[in-house]
Amino acid sequence: MKGIILAGGSGSRLGPLTRSTSKQLLPVFDKPMIYYPLSVLMLAGIRDIAIITTPRDRDAFIALLGDGSKFGVTLDYVTQDQPRGISEAFLLCANFIGDQPVTLILGDNLFYGHGLSGLVRESIAAPITGATVFSCSVSDPSRYGVATIDAEGRAIKIEEKPANPTSNLAITGLYIYDNTVVERARSLTPSARGELEITDLNRTYLEQGTLKVTPLGRGVAWMDTGTPDALLESSEFVRSLQRRQGLHIACLEEIAFRQGWISQDALAAAVAGLGASDYGRYLAEISNAGR
Ligand code: TTP
Repeated sequence: MKGIILAGGSGSRLGPLTRSTSKQLLPVFDKPMIYYPLSVLMLAGIRDIAIITTPRDRDAFIALLGDGSKFGVTLDYVTQDQPRGISEAFLLCANFIGDQPVTLILGDNLFYGHGLSGLVRESIAAPITGATVFSCSVSDPSRYGVATIDAEGRAIKIEEKPANPTSNLAITGLYIYDNTVVERARSLTPSARGELEITDLNRTYLEQGTLKVTPLGRGVAWMDTGTPDALLESSEFVRSLQRRQGLHIACLEEIAFRQGWISQDALAAAVAGLGASDYGRYLAEISNAGR
């Protein structure tokens, strides 16, 4: 299973914050935004990951994350010169994907909650045929892609930003595809806004009855962090949970250590490089305890 994090785009809704930097490098409380989607892939056990960035921001992502070895994963960097849509990820990453299935996560989506990792692990454990998307109840479905499902969780209808939504199940930014996704992406044509749309890609599976919609359930929070309000709200969310529980969300070295992907020595070395930050102190406690 390969993983892709889509971290290009123009981030126009966050201007002027994004005039000189990538949205996905902006802070969500105490970590760069991209840590959160990367943590979701890592918790699902996915270790071979491509990060799609703009040409402008590529080096900054490399400075932050490197080749991934400090987190026990392998990171590839792929550039997208124009934001030609989410489905273009599969064209840009065709070589990287090879003959594997692939999980795509949007770089500005934050997922957190009980049962999430198990749900994603289960969805990728069996041989993958078709596509799985994850839905979440929202109060304002007309802002999202919306799915209507049958009793088996198969999608019967998906609509993009419907004026009169037939369900409140928004499709989130986490998608699992079988290897036919590359061919399907090649067959898409750009929409009126000039993008290869993810909804059009999902519709190719829907038409064949192979688009599964898995609800994330009430215990999982999902946030898109792409507007100033949403960015602040996600920071507040992370801050409150971390304060309350004393556990960090999306602490990548912790995840890698608990997965058995990096040694205690590697963890101690990471701590040494993190200075006096809370993040570093938190990791130091884990490193000293050895568990
Ligand atoms: P969006 O939030 O839809 O787009 P954007 O990031 O360009 O922001 P805005 O609408 O404010 O201009 O994108 C969702 C995610 O997908 C985000 O992480 C950026 C990424 N993305 C790409 O990497 N390439 C693309 O072509 C598009 C459309 C999005």
